[in-house]
Amino acid sequence: MNIRLIAAAAALAAFSGAAQAEGASKGESLFNANCAACHGAQAAGTDKGPPLVHRIYEPNHHGDMAFLLAVRNGARAHHWPFGDMPPVEGVADADVALIVTYVRGLQREAGIY
Ligand code: HEC
Repeated sequence: MNIRLIAAAAALAAFSGAAQAEGASKGESLFNANCAACHGAQAAGTDKGPPLVHRIYEPNHHGDMAFLLAVRNGARAHHWPFGDMPPVEGVADADVALIVTYVRGLQREAGIY
């Protein structure tokens, strides 16, 4: 694990409280611009990618670091038949943190954790 990822993980961990509400709305825009084409509006899934509002992606199974790694490196198809996720260009670590805040909010609303 490199230093940049450790720093990003610390930033994710430090992200809380009041910043969370604001983060969720910025996270929604970032999600819609960069992820929704495959993961769907409200992360509900499409025919190109799985829903992230799903038990598979709860924090104990796919921690916040898994999101960072998926965006940086892409993800090999292993849970679903959609094919590989390619790396997503142009999304900064701080943007991923906002996207994670948004997705965790949706997961909590859906009663996933
Ligand atoms: C081109 C389509 C596509 C885009 C765009 C995309 N994804 Fe994915 N993503 C996928 C697919 C397909 C999988 C499922 C791989 C599998 O079978 O497990 C996936 C899996 C994931 C996973 C789980 C990774 C793992 O470790 O299993 C996360 C987290 C994720 N995506 C987050 C994101 C985020 C955040 C964005 C936007 C910044 C994004 N994805 C954009 C297609 C996409």
